[in-house]
This record gives sequence, C-alpha cells and structure tokens, in this order.
Amino acid sequence: MSVASQVHPEYNYKVVRQFAIMTVVWGIIGMAVGVFIAAQLYWPALNFDIPYLTFSRLRPLHTNAVIFAFGGCALFATSYYVVQRTSQVRIFSDKLASFTFWGWQAVIVSAAITLPLGLTSTKEYAELEWPIDILITLVWVAYIINFFGTIVVRKVSHIYVANWFFGAFMLTVAVLHIGNSMAIPVSLFKSYSIYAGAVDAMMQWWYGHNAVGFFLTAGFLGMMYYFVPKQAGRPVYSYRLSVVHFWALTSLYIWAGPHHLHYTALPDWTQSLGMVMSIILFVPSWGGMINGIMTLSGAWHKLRTDPILRFLIVSLSFYGMSTFEGPMMAIKTVNALSHYTDWTIGHVHSGALGWVAMVSIGSIYHLIPVLFNKPAMYSIKWINVHFWLATIGVVLYIVAMWMSGVLQGLMWRAVNPDGTLTYSFVESLQASKPFYFVRFIGGAFVVAGMLLMAYNVYKTVRTPNEEFSKDPENSPQPQAA
Ligand code: HEM
Ligand code: HEM
Repeated sequence: MSVASQVHPEYNYKVVRQFAIMTVVWGIIGMAVGVFIAAQLYWPALNFDIPYLTFSRLRPLHTNAVIFAFGGCALFATSYYVVQRTSQVRIFSDKLASFTFWGWQAVIVSAAITLPLGLTSTKEYAELEWPIDILITLVWVAYIINFFGTIVVRKVSHIYVANWFFGAFMLTVAVLHIGNSMAIPVSLFKSYSIYAGAVDAMMQWWYGHNAVGFFLTAGFLGMMYYFVPKQAGRPVYSYRLSVVHFWALTSLYIWAGPHHLHYTALPDWTQSLGMVMSIILFVPSWGGMINGIMTLSGAWHKLRTDPILRFLIVSLSFYGMSTFEGPMMAIKTVNALSHYTDWTIGHVHSGALGWVAMVSIGSIYHLIPVLFNKPAMYSIKWINVHFWLATIGVVLYIVAMWMSGVLQGLMWRAVNPDGTLTYSFVESLQASKPFYFVRFIGGAFVVAGMLLMAYNVYKTVRTPNEEFSKDPENSPQPQAA
C-alpha cells in the first residue's frame, strides 16, 4: 500500500499524482517550445531549413502543449482531487480515471508527432486530425462520467462551488469539441470540415472563444475557488457572490465569440452582439477576481511569507488585468488597432501565462506535499525564486508585446497626405524586432522557474520525511480538511 493511500484510503490519489507530475513535465516542454518559437521570430535562421522545425508547425505544437497538455493535466489533477475531497468519497471509477490519464497522454503524444509533420485540420486550437479528435471525445466522455458519477455518490449534500465551475468546463468543452470538429474524413490523416465560409469562421470562433472561456477560465476558476481558500486558511470571501459569478459568467461567455471576427464577412449585428456581450463580461469576471482576492482579507500578512499564496493571488491580478483588457479589445474601434498585432499576443499571455500558468503552479505546489504525504515542499525559498522568475518573465513578455502591438497598429494605419501608406510592412517588422528579444528573455525566465519547480518537486518526493529542512520557513503547509 502506498504512503498516500495509508493516509486517505478512501481517495484515489494515484491519478491525481500522475496528472500533477505530468503538469510539470508538459509545462516545461510546452513553454520551452514557446521560448524556441519566440527565438525564431528574432533569429529566423533557427528553423534550420527543416520543415518539422518551421515556426508554422511549432506554433500549434506550442499552443496545444501549453493549453491541452500543461493546462489540461493541471485541470484533470485538481478536478479529480477537489471532487473527491469536497464530496468526501472516492472517485467514481478507478478504471475510468486510469483510462483518462493514459488516453490523455496518448492524445498529447499524437499531437506532438502529427503537428510537426504538418498534419492539421488548420482550425486554431482544434488542429488535431479526426482520429485524435475521436480519442479526445472518448477520454472526455469518460472524464465527465467519472466526475459527475463522483458527485452523484457524494457523502455531503452540498456541491461546493469549485465543482460547479469544473462541471461547466467539462460539459461545455464536450459540446464545443464535438460541434467544431465535425468533419468528413478523406483519408486517415485528412478530413474536411462540414462547415464552409462565414459559417465555418463563426463555428471556429464560437469554439475558440469558449475554449478560452471554459477551458482556460471556468476550469481554472474551479481551481481558484478551492486552492485560494485552502492556502489562505480562510473561507471564500462571499459564497453568494461565487454563485452569482458562476451563472453570470457561464451564461455570458458563450455569446462573445464574434469579437474575434470584427470587420469580417460575418453579419454586422453578430459582431455588435459579440462586442456588447464581451463588455458585459467584464462584470462577472471582476466579481470572481475580487471574490478570490478578498478571501485574503484579514490575512494579507500571509503574502509576505507564503510564496504559494503569492502565486495564487498574483494569478488573480493577471486574471483581472486580462479580463479588463479583453472587453476593451472587443470594442470595434479598439479592435481596429489591436487586431493582427502583437497586442493580441500580449493579451493572450497575460491571461495564459499570468493567470492560467500561475494559478496552476500555485495549486500544484499546494498539492504535491499532500499527495506524497510530505510535511511541505522541499524548499520554500526555491518557490519564492520561482515566483519572482515567473512574475518578472510574464511582465517582460506582456509589456514588450503591448509596445510592439500598439506600434504595429499605428504604423499600419499611418497614411501620407496623398493617401499612400507611410510605412511598409517590413519597416513595422523591423520596429518590432527589439521587443521580440525582450519577449524571448521573459520566456526564458519563465522556463527557468519551471525547471526549478521540477527539481523542487523531485526533491520533495524523494526526500524522507525526517530529513526535511528544519528551516522554520519550511513549516507544514495548510492541508486539506
Ligand atoms: C515561456 C512561456 C511562453 C512563451 C515564451 C510563449 C511564446 C509564444 C509565442 C512566441 C507565440 C507566437 C506568437 C506569434 O505568433 O506572434 C505564442 C502563441 C501563443 N501562446 Fe505562448 N508562450 C509561453 C507560454 C504560454 C502558455 C503557458 C500558454 C497557455 C496556457 C500560451 C498560449 C499561447 C497561445 C494561445 C498562443 C496563440 C496566440 C494567438 O494566436 O493569438 N503560451 N506563445
Ligand atoms: C472578459 C474576458 C475577455 C474578453 C472579453 C476577451 C476578449 C478578447 C479579444 C477582443 C481578443 C482579440 C480578438 C482579435 O482581435 O482577434 C482576444 C483574444 C484572445 N484572448 Fe481574450 N478576452 C478575455 C479574457 C481572456 C482570458 C482570461 C484569456 C486566457 C486565459 C484570453 C485568451 C485569449 C486568446 C488565446 C486570444 C487569441 C485568440 C486568437 O486569435 O488566436 N482572453 N480576447
């Protein structure tokens, strides 16, 4: 019997441990590919004239690896953990849990092979070809059965709010994935979407935006609602607000997709509707952020000594920042400047690196000692170093992209009195180049932090309990109730 199962024989921690470790592994790989493609944008020769290493093939590898491998494993790990703890019952089926772990890893490995080979459906964030899409569907259905099965057999009548967010994320992602991936296969590795033209674009961004809203937001809010109160050792600031937050967020997000298609062939009214819904979306987003941050009221001093809490709270600040910026970029006149520029890339990474990666990292640091029955992480100081590497890295990344993006937007729209363009496209590229270097450095900071995390996790798992540092900073973390 493993150590952890002696502590909590009723829970299946094995699957949580597997996903938690793979979160760190895929985080390093996905972000390292991000740094590599960032370097390619500065030193284009880094594609070495090898087709498998071109930017166009590695970019979707990066997005798939960070969103679905890193983010996905973090979501599986935390949702399986939270649903067991808050339902006070073992996971519905160990076999299904194991199937979801190995099935999801198979999806990731298939993506890592097919994308560099250039096999793609060409739909952003849904690039994988139809056989892999079918595997994703099977894994996802097993995940849903397992999660909701656990809720059904729960031993407490209440369903904690984190589970509402996790549940909404799972169900919506299932509908999005199946809806957008409908295609007619013509060979093992090639299929054509059943949608065409403007309808195809609309479906794609209904999917794409809600992948952001439900994969990259709702699921991670579930994480936030469990791990922020746990790490802070306080109840969530307002339970009533969390319920309002849930219904407002889930009912609004689904309408905002057309803001990705401003000034396109999409009917104008759909663009305006998307814009209005995006602006309203600011309200529940900030409601949720405030609810998370205010959970610390009366315990702000903990931020001075607890770098895990710092990861969680700073992630919420980035969440607030990106959900202020997003509604602003959804305004058509603002989008006329930001669209196609690096501003979008800055926005993406303030959400994806600042919010998604940091809340996941904080949660995994909280989880590892619990899962492996250790008094704390091996080194709290290293977590602190990681925190600063990540924060400085993200800030360097997004500030560089804001500057580059606004510069590009302004240069592209500048016209001479005779109506000709003031700048050529190449001139705008030259102007962006220094910012690409800053982004590369920022990314390298983030990856350095992830490597330190991996070593810290390794040392935590390997070090016998009695040899844990006597350093008072390494006092036991707040553990799950
Ligand atoms: C070390 C950290 C990272 C670096 C250096 C990095 C770098 C990059 C680069 C260079 C691009 C291409 C930009 C372009 O086409 O102009 C990109 C795109 C993207 N990255 Fe990252 N990335 C990192 C982490 C992440 C994480 C953690 C996530 C998600 C959880 C993420 C999500 C994305 C997405 C969604 C895009 C596509 C954006 C779009 O199409 O507008 N990245 N990244
Ligand atoms: C209230 C919340 C938000 C709104 C209204 C919003 C709005 C927008 C807008 C208007 C764009 C630019 C579309 C374009 O010009 O092509 C965009 C792009 C994007 N946003 Fe957000 N955003 C929000 C929050 C977030 C968060 C929290 C994340 C990440 C966790 C995120 C990830 C992305 C990604 C990945 C893209 C790039 C999509 C692509 O073109 O490939 N957004 N968002």
